[in-house]
Amino acid sequence: MKKNNLTLGEFIIENQKHYKSTSGEFSRLISSIKLAAKIVNYKVNKAGLVDILGDAGDTNIQGEDQQKLDVYANDVFMQTLINREIVCGIASEEEDDYVTIKGKHETNENKYVVLMDPLDGSSNIDVNVSVGTIFSIYKRVTPTGTPVDKIDFLQRGNQQVAAGYVVYGTSTMLVLTSGSGVNGFTLNPAIGSFYLSHPNMKFPENGTIYSINEGNYVHFPQGVKDYLKYCQEEKENRPYTSRYIGSLVSDFHRNMIKGGIYIYPTSTKNPKGKLRLLYECNPMAFLAEQANGKASDGYVRILDIKPTELHQRVPFFCGSKSMVKKLEEFMAKYP
Ligand code: AHG
Ligand code: MN
Ligand code: MN
Ligand code: MN
Repeated sequence: MKKNNLTLGEFIIENQKHYKSTSGEFSRLISSIKLAAKIVNYKVNKAGLVDILGDAGDTNIQGEDQQKLDVYANDVFMQTLINREIVCGIASEEEDDYVTIKGKHETNENKYVVLMDPLDGSSNIDVNVSVGTIFSIYKRVTPTGTPVDKIDFLQRGNQQVAAGYVVYGTSTMLVLTSGSGVNGFTLNPAIGSFYLSHPNMKFPENGTIYSINEGNYVHFPQGVKDYLKYCQEEKENRPYTSRYIGSLVSDFHRNMIKGGIYIYPTSTKNPKGKLRLLYECNPMAFLAEQANGKASDGYVRILDIKPTELHQRVPFFCGSKSMVKKLEEFMAKYP
């Protein structure tokens, strides 16, 4: 029976059997993320009215200027997860190092760690364009009850228990996978609940949208340049349509619904790529694969990369399967 009025909370309970744990820890964790998302959503919605636009006047460890909303969203997600004592550790784009969460009695029996990009697309805040939050959940590998270690965070993406994003857009959505497909929930702002609105989301096998910051063209590797030429050729269903918001979450979301590819390659400016493996690429790659899409660094499956550092950057090619495969063919000519 199709249920249109299923809330995210009810959905998690109904699907409890899919999760390895039945202790309720996972449900409580999702519920904390949901709460933080609603708080950030509230602030994003009235950003022009409160003193939350513009630079925070600081940079993060990766040398990026922090926006006020970057700092605010980070604080909200950190505090919500810490106050509820629901995880044992958090790593965030906006924190220098991972954070160990102590329990009330100095030990912490929780088994999950969260990695996040609290505010994605922050250059879009001041101009009223959609931004997002990305999160990734793993089980720790070190024993519970001991302080977390860096190795709990440097796990391969294929070890993720769940991942998702929130898009603060024309409507606010939370899109989630826990390894058995992707489901999208839309916030009803009048009631404050997320309802299942997009069950079983899938990337179309092929698409006609390519999303890339083409202003950096001269700095791109030759394989990407050749692929862009292919996208623009007049042949079969080409030229494709170019769409680039500059918020990974929003570009991914559109491409998943309509069919397309998101590209952030290496460049002479960003020799390792710009996007962060742990906070952006792994969670989006997990979602993509769970939605019949594909994610690669041009040569290797994103989820198989062994991370070596928290803020590691990688090139990112993600979207409809046949489009990502085609791009890999072009890249393979320049190994
Ligand atoms: P963040 O705001 O979390 O730092 O991420 C920005 C990312 C991503 O969302 C977006 O797709 C990309 O950077 C845009 O980069 P360019 O402005 O270089 O195109
Ligand atoms: Mn940033
Ligand atoms: Mn980001
Ligand atoms: Mn960010």
